[in-house]
Amino acid sequence: MERIAVSAVRKSFNLKPGQTVTVDGVTSSRIAVLDGVDLTINSGEFITLVGPSGSGKSVLLDVIAGLTEATSGVARIDGIEVTKPHARTAYVFQQYALFPWRTALQNVEYALEVRGVPAAERRERAKDFLHLFGLKGFEDRFPSQLSGGMQQRVAIARALSTDPQVLLMDEPFAALDAQTRDILQSELLRIWEQIKTTVVFVTHSIDEAIYLADRVVVMTARPASVKEIVEIDLPRPRDLDIRNSEAFNAYRGRVWESLRDEVGKAQRDWTLASTYAN
Ligand SMILES: Nc1ncnc2c1ncn2[C@@H]1O[C@H](COP(=O)(O)OP(=O)(O)OP(=O)(O)O)[C@@H](O)[C@H]1O
Ligand SMILES: [Mg+2]
Repeated sequence: MERIAVSAVRKSFNLKPGQTVTVDGVTSSRIAVLDGVDLTINSGEFITLVGPSGSGKSVLLDVIAGLTEATSGVARIDGIEVTKPHARTAYVFQQYALFPWRTALQNVEYALEVRGVPAAERRERAKDFLHLFGLKGFEDRFPSQLSGGMQQRVAIARALSTDPQVLLMDEPFAALDAQTRDILQSELLRIWEQIKTTVVFVTHSIDEAIYLADRVVVMTARPASVKEIVEIDLPRPRDLDIRNSEAFNAYRGRVWESLRDEVGKAQRDWTLASTYAN
């Protein structure tokens, strides 16, 4: 069943007063970020998005989340146009985004509180989700008393505790060390195997993209559209060792080949931008 449908989504922003960009000889005070993005995602699918820095991945997630409006085109969830944040869509950011004045438990509870879940029930649910993420015994710690990996576990527990139909994750593991990142990738997969919510996950790591995904979506350089979709036909449940397999290596080559030109274009873009910046 189709859960998310992004159709011909374009997004551009006004630049600051006095700023202009010149693309193909045309000077404009607007910057085109998304240039006709089409993407359909099935219920329960795990999609990863890769693309050069500044290509518009976060903006695309924001459009799906209902946090920003497309300039034209439409994003739909279950056939309904997204015009504002949806109660059954959850978002996890790169930075932990926890409330520093709330404990781990209270942070998870918060998401349930705003959804009107009664106190006793939300406490139980929040505990269950913290335990699911290996945080038993850390319920009463404040974020500053938790490692980065633990904070991100709390953020994911908070997102999943609301039973989202759509989970949007914007480079959630980018700030973590390599070992913690590996552990959280497998934990996320283990839990996703149980709940099978629809996930859209942005990453700069090709290995992470392949390891997690049913399909890897490669975006072009800005203004972005979908360049290629690589179906990842690796068995599940997946063990981290799968990254050493021949099949994985072939996917690695394939995704990189698709991405390489776009990263090159984006770099030229940046070089030009800094050369002409004043
Ligand atoms: N509110 C805004 N106003 C103006 N420009 C914006 C705004 N939000 C994003 N942009 C521009 O849109 C472009 C795409 O940004 P976005 O954050 O989506 O890139 P990204 O692909 O997520 O990059 P990264 O991989 O570095 O996170 C950038 O050039 C950015 O400057
Ligand atoms: Mg981003």
